[in-house]
Amino acid sequence: MNGQTWAAADPAQQSAVATMVRPPQLPQPPLPPPQQASQLPQQPPLPPSLPPLPADDPNDDLVRLFAVSDLHVDAQENAYWLTRLSDTAYKRDAIIVAGDVSDDLIELRQSLDLLKSKFRDVFFTPGNHDLWVTKADRARGQSDSMLKLRAILKLCDYLGVHTRPMRVGNATAGVGIVPLLSWHHASWDPEPDLRGFAIPPVEQVMTDFRNCVWPAPLDPRTDSIARAVDALNDELLSAAQVSQSEPLVSFSHFLPRVELLPEKRFLTLPVLAKASGSDPLRNRVQLLRPTMHVFGHTHFGWDQTLDGTRFVQGALAYPGERTSRWHTLKVGDLGAEGPLHLWNSREGFAPHMHCRWSGYYEHHRREPERCMELAMYAAQQWPPTDERASCCMPDFSHEDGPTAMPGVRMLREDPAFVKPW
Ligand SMILES: [Fe+2]
Repeated sequence: MNGQTWAAADPAQQSAVATMVRPPQLPQPPLPPPQQASQLPQQPPLPPSLPPLPADDPNDDLVRLFAVSDLHVDAQENAYWLTRLSDTAYKRDAIIVAGDVSDDLIELRQSLDLLKSKFRDVFFTPGNHDLWVTKADRARGQSDSMLKLRAILKLCDYLGVHTRPMRVGNATAGVGIVPLLSWHHASWDPEPDLRGFAIPPVEQVMTDFRNCVWPAPLDPRTDSIARAVDALNDELLSAAQVSQSEPLVSFSHFLPRVELLPEKRFLTLPVLAKASGSDPLRNRVQLLRPTMHVFGHTHFGWDQTLDGTRFVQGALAYPGERTSRWHTLKVGDLGAEGPLHLWNSREGFAPHMHCRWSGYYEHHRREPERCMELAMYAAQQWPPTDERASCCMPDFSHEDGPTAMPGVRMLREDPAFVKPW
């Protein structure tokens, strides 16, 4: 063995090889005499085409994209739903978590950690609940919601949870995922307010106005918070790792468009429209022109295409909502078996899903001018104060054909509801 045989072909191996101790020389058998070329055994000719390789497992490189919003893991059943998600089925997959996991930063961390152990890629954007400032946050020095937002983004970086754009997929098919930070402001809602009912102002009924703290000069009565939060997207989007030639899926917690919320007269909480959406977010989505945009917050199953973008919501929501109004939450396969399946590398995007409220707007136009009406189920809570005010009921007769009675059909089923005991 001469010295040359110690030089590794791969330079990366050379330093390791150089540190090896040369073994003692052993007696070598004599080499056979060199052969003439004509004496060498002839190689058999190559067949005209190579035989096919054994068929690959069709699932070998399958990558799927899932989504869920409004996990609210402070509800024990929801935390249990998360724990029960398969530890093995999603190892090649990605999940979008569109905000509202928990106001408790420790619970948020545990939930994201758990998701990271189950999915290859986890994408997250905070919701309003995630930015509530708790006693524990203050003790950690996160004395306002902006500081908490920055702490959450840092936590995500540490955990390897994506808050910046990134591609998911395999060598042949992929989608670019674009997380968008957002915050709600009342002026996003362009439709007239309801009149003639004793409905308190949004600041009184939405907990965000009590549990969030914003540093001056940010003011929850203006769009200043929405603009300040949106500005953080410039930095997060600057290192975009997505291709313009593949479909984009953007996501936010809040709503980019008012069409994604039932009209006020159908809402149990009509002022929800004042704390649900963001104009800067709408502008971002308009510029991006994604194939799909995933959102959360309002706890309504949704699948609607507007101006070429498909808008989807799959909210887990609270256990009480799942038992009392599953028919308004239901979307695709979201439920006991797992989160909502949106896309996979073999078949592309999931087919259109029927949802109660987005389905309503496939059959009815918006009539925001009917602002002295309130659905019967909401008027029980907000009684009329004007004799011209009246009650109404949404017409879902299209769901069962022309013979069905219009009105709300209660489907008392909750496939996501699994008792933790
Ligand atoms: Fe929310």
